[in-house]
Parts: sequence; structure tokens; C-alpha cells
Amino acid sequence: MNAAANLRDRMDPLEQLIQDAPGRIDAAETIVALDEIEADTVGRRSPIAEARSALGGIKDAADRGAAGKAINDIANDLTSQIAARRQVLEGAEVNARLLSDKVDVTLPGRVPRRGTHHLIQQTMDEIVDIFVSLGYTMVQGPEAETAFYNFTALNIPETHPARHESDTLYLDYGESDEEILLRTHTSPVQARHMEVNDPPVYIVVPGKVFRADAIDATHLPVFHQIEGLAVDDGITFADLKGTLAEFARQYFGVDTEVKFIPHYFPFTEPSAEMHAYTQGRWIELLGCGMVDPAVFEHAGYDPDAFTGFAFGMGVERMAMVRHGITDLRTLIDPDVRTLEQYR
Ligand code: PHE
Repeated sequence: MNAAANLRDRMDPLEQLIQDAPGRIDAAETIVALDEIEADTVGRRSPIAEARSALGGIKDAADRGAAGKAINDIANDLTSQIAARRQVLEGAEVNARLLSDKVDVTLPGRVPRRGTHHLIQQTMDEIVDIFVSLGYTMVQGPEAETAFYNFTALNIPETHPARHESDTLYLDYGESDEEILLRTHTSPVQARHMEVNDPPVYIVVPGKVFRADAIDATHLPVFHQIEGLAVDDGITFADLKGTLAEFARQYFGVDTEVKFIPHYFPFTEPSAEMHAYTQGRWIELLGCGMVDPAVFEHAGYDPDAFTGFAFGMGVERMAMVRHGITDLRTLIDPDVRTLEQYR
């Protein structure tokens, strides 16, 4: 077989290639398929490669050059077709990836379940805020207290029934002022505060208090109070009434009427209960009175130079009146359906 015939044999497959390759390239759906077509058409074992290797058999330099150029033209044409198709396929792959990663920013977000303060905490915060708006500062004191601060400093005598073991939860029961108990009211913080602060004093004291009571609709062994104490030069019972009436108006509504009924507390003299007219009835809200001079003496204040008033209210009671809750146990119900009503 002469060289020219040999080349013609080698060129025939190229004719075929020129026929078939463009359709195959266009039909390739993936980069992997296109890679295969590239190997088949212009790769090392392709008809193009074979035709090139046959070029050496053409003796005439001009013929050889023309044949080489023809092969190169075919090869270049196929290579650029493949490159164009590759670009299309790569673009499609990127689009597909973008599509599958797409974030729909118009979808409603996932809303996490939000917690909230318990009604008791909300109530304390709100009441404290009212007094802060009237110029008071919030202070706190220990829940485990000595008998001295819980009773003696508040003018509560050794013989008082509240000091009895059946009413008070003792942590360390003994005979003296040193015995340790769970405070039965927030009033000991009055004594603690006055011991280390000179007048004027305007404080509110929210906190837990404890009594040896069994749980029922009207008793909890652990409940909350807010104490108030105002001591200054020339404070009168009118200041007490004005302040507490203002509190009632802010907490229960501007139309709320209040009345003061004489009462007895060892640490105030005179003492009173404040009742409020709200939701169609009179309700006892809190205990109050003018600070007893004996309490000032324990605190080291001169009872001739200063006067003051104090009050103490039950937080649960305030929340129950305001929200129409009739059973105290509702407030210690851990059921979320109960709690969610008082968001
Ligand atoms: N500490 C009293 C109680 O627990 C309330 C009170 C406080 C009364 C301050 C008068 C003044 O009942």
C-alpha cells in the first residue's frame, strides 16, 4: 500500500468523525460523557491521532503539510465545539447546585417558643417599678434570717405567737436572737437597711417569705411580699396615705378608691390595713403604719429627729385580685397551659 493510499485510509475515519462528532458533542448531557467523547475524537487513540501518525508516510513535503493542516483544522474545530459544550454543561451544573441550595427568603421563619417571666415575677417587677417611679430604690435581703432581725429588731416580743415553732420554719431552733429561721415577712430588711444607711430612706424590698402552713386555696408555705419603708424629716400619716393611694391607682386603675382601717403591728404605730375598691368590691391589700420608735432605736436612728412609714403587701394577693384568680395553687401550677395565660 503506498503512502497516499495509506493516508486516505487514515482520513476516511476523519470523514466519519466530521459527520458524527458534532451530534454526539451536542447530545452530551454530562461532563463525564463529554470527556469520553473528547477522548474518542481528539484523544491519544482517536482517529485524529491515528491520522497524524500516518503523516510521516507522505514523502512530498507540500502534500504532507496540506494533510497536516487539514487534520489540525478538523482537530481544532472539534476541540472548540467540545469546549463550547463544556461551558454549557458546567453552567448547567452550577445552576443546578444553586437551585438545590436556594433559600426562599419569603418563607415564614421558624419562631422559637419564647419563655416569659412567671406571673409572680411580673407582678413584683411591675409593683417595684411603680415605687421606683415615685423615687424609691429596690433592695433585697436574706431569706434565711436570724430571729433578731425577723422579730426582735421589729419590736416583736419573745412571747409573740409568730415566734412559735408551729408558725415559723426554723433552720436552727434555739432560745436566743441567734437562732436561724426562714423569714416570715420582708420586714427584717427594714432593720438591716437602717442599720447601715442613714435617713432619708426610700426603699422597696421584694422577696420570698415562708410560713409553716399547709398548701390550700388560701395558703402557701412559700410566697412573696413587697416591703416598703420611707424615713425622712417630717414624714406623716398623710404621706403614707398619699403614697399608697397613688400605688393603688397605678396598679389597679386611676379610679381606684382606698380606705385605711386601724390594725395592729408590733413594728408600726399607728398601724392600718389598706383596702381598695376594685372590680366592684372592697379588698384588703396590705398592712402599713408609721414606723414604731422602738424600731428606730434598734436601728440606731434618733426617733425624735425622724419619722417614717412602712408597708408590706402580698404579691400573690395582688396578682390574684388583678387577674381574678381564686385559688392560690394556680400560681404554683407548672402546667404551661396555665402559665401561658399570664404572659
Ligand atoms: N410584715 C407585715 C406582715 O407580714 C406587713 C407589714 C409591713 C405591716 C410593714 C406594716 C408595715 O403581715
